[in-house]
Amino acid sequence: MSHLREHWFPYLLGVIILGVIARELLSSDATKENLFKPGDKQISIVPGIYELSNSEAGNLIRYGKALIDSTAKYFGPHGLVASITNGLSCQNCHRESGTKLYTNNFLAVASNYPKFRERSGRLESIEWRINECMQRSLNGEAIDSMSKEMRAMVAYIKWTGKNVKKNVKADGAGTKELTFLERAANSITGKTIYSAKCQSCHGENGEGVLSFDSVNYIYPPLWGQHSYAVSAGMFRLSKLASFVKHNMPLGATYTEPLLNNEEAWDVAAYINSQPHPKKMFAADWPVLKSKPVDYPFGPYTDGFSEKQHKYGPFEPIKKVRDEQMAMMKK
Ligand code: HEC
Ligand code: HEC
Repeated sequence: MSHLREHWFPYLLGVIILGVIARELLSSDATKENLFKPGDKQISIVPGIYELSNSEAGNLIRYGKALIDSTAKYFGPHGLVASITNGLSCQNCHRESGTKLYTNNFLAVASNYPKFRERSGRLESIEWRINECMQRSLNGEAIDSMSKEMRAMVAYIKWTGKNVKKNVKADGAGTKELTFLERAANSITGKTIYSAKCQSCHGENGEGVLSFDSVNYIYPPLWGQHSYAVSAGMFRLSKLASFVKHNMPLGATYTEPLLNNEEAWDVAAYINSQPHPKKMFAADWPVLKSKPVDYPFGPYTDGFSEKQHKYGPFEPIKKVRDEQMAMMKK
């Protein structure tokens, strides 16, 4: 006992260290379990890039990751491969190389594509889907499906989803949509939020900040000629509000958001009330009824205005849509 009394300090230190290690182990297990809910859904873990071998296949996947992380370097205005995009990088929206939960992540792409999508009215391959983002989100041009760059991005995206089984709903994959507000989203309130919480990084005119090498954005643009086009997913308020809620201001996650729902919808309304490149695709939404409630360009079959389809309230539109869909099934 006297031994313990004299040497209490190293013992105490040992106990503290053990405690910290145990907590780390427990908490990392806890996050793994929360990644995807068990039951009918797939429990999956994002693979680690360090697992890749030094083979040709491994190198292709690594190149794919580089293209996703720094698309601007390869395809931006001063791109090494081609100059065909606005300078955004995939990972600006598909964060953490497309693996962050509820942030347009790629985990359920391999398991769900080829996939029928209403926007195109056709079965889309992964290559097709990537080119949609190239043309709309990056306001750029499609690349050849057989090119090394396309093969690399597809290989990387497939690899991120390698633990997700086919046709299983992977909770946490893709995006988590926010509940609709009862009112229209308010771009004037949104501007106040923007000035207080976004402007310091994204700039007064949403123009973003380029890094010193003028290649990648440190803070990507949110509107103006270098931002996503009006035909991009982010131009739909629900997609933008959901991204903002789970990611912005920088540091926010889906478990620890920094804005409430109203703030996320309102600041999204402000961003999308500002000018975006007016690139549209005539073939979009071949079945008019299938247009999402927040697709801001007519014509529509529900009698609501473009303004309401842009800012809401969306619940009344959804009600009419649901009724129309039910009629169709009768
Ligand atoms: C400005 C933001 C933005 C950028 C930049 C962007 N995307 Fe996307 N992407 C989205 C959004 C939003 C969606 C989801 C759209 C939806 O749900 O309708 C999406 C969807 C996708 C999907 C389908 C995901 C799924 O689960 O079905 C793939 C694949 C994809 N993007 C690849 C890319 C690649 C590769 C790049 C870079 C070349 C890129 N994206 C750049 C916003 C972006
Ligand atoms: C501390 C700096 C910082 C603040 C503050 C901040 N952002 Fe961002 N934002 C970023 C960075 C960095 C990225 C790119 C993330 C990446 O590449 O992983 C980004 C990406 C985005 C994107 C997707 C890419 C694009 O250009 O379309 C949107 C939308 C966005 N932010 C909106 C907001 C909104 C809205 C706010 C305020 C509520 C905000 N941000 C506050 C740093 C910031």
